[in-house]
Amino acid sequence: LREHEEFTKVKNIATIELGRYEIETWYFSPFPPEYNDFLKLYFCEFCLNFMKRKEQLQRHMRKCDLKHPPGDEIYRSGTLSMFEVDGKKNKVYGQNLCYLAKLFLDHKTLYYDVDLFLFYVLCECDDRGCHMVGYFSKEKHSEESYNLACILTLPPYQRKGYGKFLIAFSYELSKKEGKVGTPERPLSDLGLLSYRGYWTRVLLDILKKHKGNISIKELSDMTAIKAEDILTTLQGLELIQYRKGQHVICADPKVLDRHLKAAGRGGLDVDVSKLIWTPYK
Ligand code: ACO
Ligand code: ZN
Repeated sequence: LREHEEFTKVKNIATIELGRYEIETWYFSPFPPEYNDFLKLYFCEFCLNFMKRKEQLQRHMRKCDLKHPPGDEIYRSGTLSMFEVDGKKNKVYGQNLCYLAKLFLDHKTLYYDVDLFLFYVLCECDDRGCHMVGYFSKEKHSEESYNLACILTLPPYQRKGYGKFLIAFSYELSKKEGKVGTPERPLSDLGLLSYRGYWTRVLLDILKKHKGNISIKELSDMTAIKAEDILTTLQGLELIQYRKGQHVICADPKVLDRHLKAAGRGGLDVDVSKLIWTPYK
């Protein structure tokens, strides 16, 4: 059984066409069996339906009436828009998105019920429509206080700050819910790098402003970052000492400045005044 499992998990689809990009895939994704003999699949960039031949896609594009992800536009700033898609109301879209995402996600099981998830799809918009650059998914109700299940920036858009934007967005939603959140584990290498970068920058900025006079609990209340994630981030930066049975933040201004410099660019910011959203009920 084990061998069979390994065998079937060999990467199947080698490339996909999506909008104006041809993208090489990274991992196996469990497309329905009739697609498995095809090295290349053609995606409609709006409804994410996928096809085996270019002509099929061309025919589809003439009649597909979507120009953006289905669902509500909850954020718009300049040419960037975020759409919230309910997996229960848009089941096929949710499933298509999961098939697509799995091509770039190694360790995730994505085949649970899309009904239980909301999908936040980030787009660059122009006169031809809203083009997906990445997304994250979120459970409608999480007992483990997860505020993000899976995150992806499509390869042509990576390393431009969209990943950190998506992460920041997930915490803005948590702030509106009045809850702390944390990403579902395990994190991929790139996921961990992106989260560590985000946590580091957010926490260092606040520590600098407050000259270090702040507790982990207060940091957590301000940022919606779970206390454990704050502790591991600050421990990694060697800003925590253990005194009389308690973790205390020791933020020497010189050390803060050194870390801030090393933390690199801040990236794209979420403009909270442009987020129009109420938590899922
Ligand atoms: N090499 C080295 N560092 C990298 C790389 C890379 N290829 N990619 C990202 N990073 C690090 C950098 O520190 C970067 O910050 P910097 O550019 O300021 O140095 C930081 O991560 C984030 O960069 P962004 O541009 O904001 O992120 P990006 O848009 O590239 O998206 C993401 C990051 C979503 C993790 C992307 O790499 C991706 O989609 N990977 C494939 C899917 C995946 O692994 N998702 C996470 C799984 S875990 C989970 O879903 C809970
Ligand atoms: Zn379509």
